[in-house]
Amino acid sequence: MRTLKVALLGCGNVGAQVARILIEDADALAARTGARLQLSGIAVRNVNAPRDVDLPQELFTTDADTLVKDADLVIELMGGIEPARTLILSALRNGACVVTGNKALLAQDGPTLYEEADKAGVQLSYEAAVAGAIPILRPIRDSLSGDRITRVLGIVNGTTNFILDQMDTTGAQFADALAEAQRLGYAEADPTADVEGHDAAAKAAILASLSFHTRFSLDDVHCEGITSVSASDIAAAKDAGFVIKLLAIAEKLVDADGKEGVSVRVHPTLLPREHPLAAVRGAFNAVFIEAENAGELMFYGQGAGGTPTASAVLGDLVSAARRLVLGGPGRTETTTGHVPALPIDAATTSYYIGLDVA
Ligand code: HSE
Repeated sequence: MRTLKVALLGCGNVGAQVARILIEDADALAARTGARLQLSGIAVRNVNAPRDVDLPQELFTTDADTLVKDADLVIELMGGIEPARTLILSALRNGACVVTGNKALLAQDGPTLYEEADKAGVQLSYEAAVAGAIPILRPIRDSLSGDRITRVLGIVNGTTNFILDQMDTTGAQFADALAEAQRLGYAEADPTADVEGHDAAAKAAILASLSFHTRFSLDDVHCEGITSVSASDIAAAKDAGFVIKLLAIAEKLVDADGKEGVSVRVHPTLLPREHPLAAVRGAFNAVFIEAENAGELMFYGQGAGGTPTASAVLGDLVSAARRLVLGGPGRTETTTGHVPALPIDAATTSYYIGLDVA
């Protein structure tokens, strides 16, 4: 059986679980893939830093460049823009398939990476970048590729969903609900990217790009967070039969001049309490898709956490490895650009999402 070398860049919560599963489930992964996935090394800043998972010390290295040069498959879980961007580009140019969960990098500079992958004829996949464990990008890209998506509504940030849910169920003020989210370990010590909507905006750009076959970046996303949502806003919404959710929205609209475009936005949204997304509680994520032929679909699950997110990474890895085994590279997406982004100022049409479901 062929052996494929897998380089892992980064060993945080998700990376450590990916390494553990690669080692513990090596036989099952080989059986499913048709090749042995050999973890050839783990690039980190400090090889002696304490880890959540006990992993062989000899795997650790600070030399990411050399590790990448020698790999068939590269998993990038360092986060941030650099050096992740340079390492991914170098892996793609070397002909390696790349799996990443780096939503910030994809939202900022995805087109450069997709083009490099296309040029090299290798796979770049990033299921873990949006909604953690939930299989959402591949269903949009593959299963729905024969349909026309008209709208995507996502609860794609667990921290803000937890905060809004706490405010809704206990009447808590924003600051108290945020403190509880931090106590439970959902929010980062600096939760700005969560509560200001930036994390959801990066995910919205990725969802919109795949759903509408157009490349959207963060600059195309209107973004408002939840810091100004008060306990009295939540109570008033509740009295009127609504719940307030921070939604990532991408939808096809016709502007005042009759021009069709895609509005991509993140903002607190009033949802009828009967809407399926209203039932998404705590730190869970869900994505609700409306498509011309499929109708309404909802994908639900854990949007963060080491082991759930590792599941998405491993799925991408097995898929990329299977293609290598079969000798096929394969483009990762299509971008025809037939539905352009609407200008930001035309994007925000409503803070209310109606209930179309029967
Ligand atoms: N901070 C993110 C969240 C983690 O709360 O959902 C997953 O991207």
